[in-house]
Amino acid sequence: MALDEGTGYTRAAPSYLAKLAEVGRGTPMGELLRRYWHPVGLGSHATNTPREVRMLGEDLVLFRDGAGRAGLVWARCCHRGTTLYYGKVEERGIRCCYHGWLYDVEGHCLDQPCEPDGGARYRKRVRQPWYPVEERYGLIFAYMGPPEKKPLLPRYDALEELDEGEFIDVDDTSIGSGGGAVAPCNWLQHFENVVDPFHVPVLHGNFSGTQFVPAMNLMPQVEFSVTPRGVKVTSERRLADGKVMHRTTEVVLPTLRVVPNPYVGKYGRVESIGWTIPIDDTHYRIYTAGRVKEKGVLLPRSPDAAKRRNRNDMTPEERRAEPNDWEAQTGQGPITLHSEEHLATSDSGIVKLRRLLEAQVDAVARGEDPIGVHFDPASAYVRLEAGQHVAAAL
Ligand code: FES
Ligand SMILES: [Fe+2]
Repeated sequence: MALDEGTGYTRAAPSYLAKLAEVGRGTPMGELLRRYWHPVGLGSHATNTPREVRMLGEDLVLFRDGAGRAGLVWARCCHRGTTLYYGKVEERGIRCCYHGWLYDVEGHCLDQPCEPDGGARYRKRVRQPWYPVEERYGLIFAYMGPPEKKPLLPRYDALEELDEGEFIDVDDTSIGSGGGAVAPCNWLQHFENVVDPFHVPVLHGNFSGTQFVPAMNLMPQVEFSVTPRGVKVTSERRLADGKVMHRTTEVVLPTLRVVPNPYVGKYGRVESIGWTIPIDDTHYRIYTAGRVKEKGVLLPRSPDAAKRRNRNDMTPEERRAEPNDWEAQTGQGPITLHSEEHLATSDSGIVKLRRLLEAQVDAVARGEDPIGVHFDPASAYVRLEAGQHVAAAL
């Protein structure tokens, strides 16, 4: 009798690519990610109420002092370790609830009410760990890496060159992260999805019905290429009227998804950027900033957008009836098992992205700068190619 082949029992223990997936301090990817600025919240998230922020596996507290300066400090108080989340924000900084030590936005200790003379002698010897922040595009960006390597915060043409009547709007929700929720899986599962145009007609056009516009349901002709910024995907779809829809999407290091909104009636250059935020190894969320002419239309909105719900609020049966990116990506598990994959021709964007990321991880390990870190304002102005247009077939 022939032996059964290919059964689960015969498989070696599965594993994931730790070099790319793990984001904590001291890990290869964690050190790469710490060479860039990342959004850690919307500008409106920094207020006189402390806000918990988890970023790259670190627990932080975001606040805004009385002078209007945003501060991002370790949540754990450097006195005896309670969280500053329970602290009070004052004119000069944040005061810990336990013994009242007061820290400014750079972690200087300004007051120790239980110590002689308010800590006049001791407080200068302690420093609450903090990170530099900058505000731009309605987002708060933080730099969590080696201070001597701190680059400029880049500017992006899509958010700098505004047409008449346009302004920048921001959002912390996204269809990709399930409508504002934190997605319970590794950030790369979403980032790789951006260079996977073939899933669009299958997942978004078939399994869930038409999630975008009908043209997106067509199987595209695709080219993938590595750019100085990341990986570019150029897709062409032959429309019923004989015209061709050209669509270019990009991933830009470190975490930017640059994807034209399929619902925007006007074709042209990309109007928004989404940052795929690695909260920790097994959670991500997305912050988006984009050019709009009216408030609240930033994200792709289908005709049935109003009835779309946060995926976390839906039952498994409801989600099964119309799976989207949330189900596909969290369905890969908390961190996908790379050892079990069988990459095919349609995955060449993913292969290019992984190789590019791995090359940057290796560059950082050698003491070099990765792509996308800029120290002079001219190169820190990033031009994007993403966009879409419809043209007559050649
Ligand atoms: S633990 Fe924060 S002041 Fe004591
Ligand atoms: Fe998708």
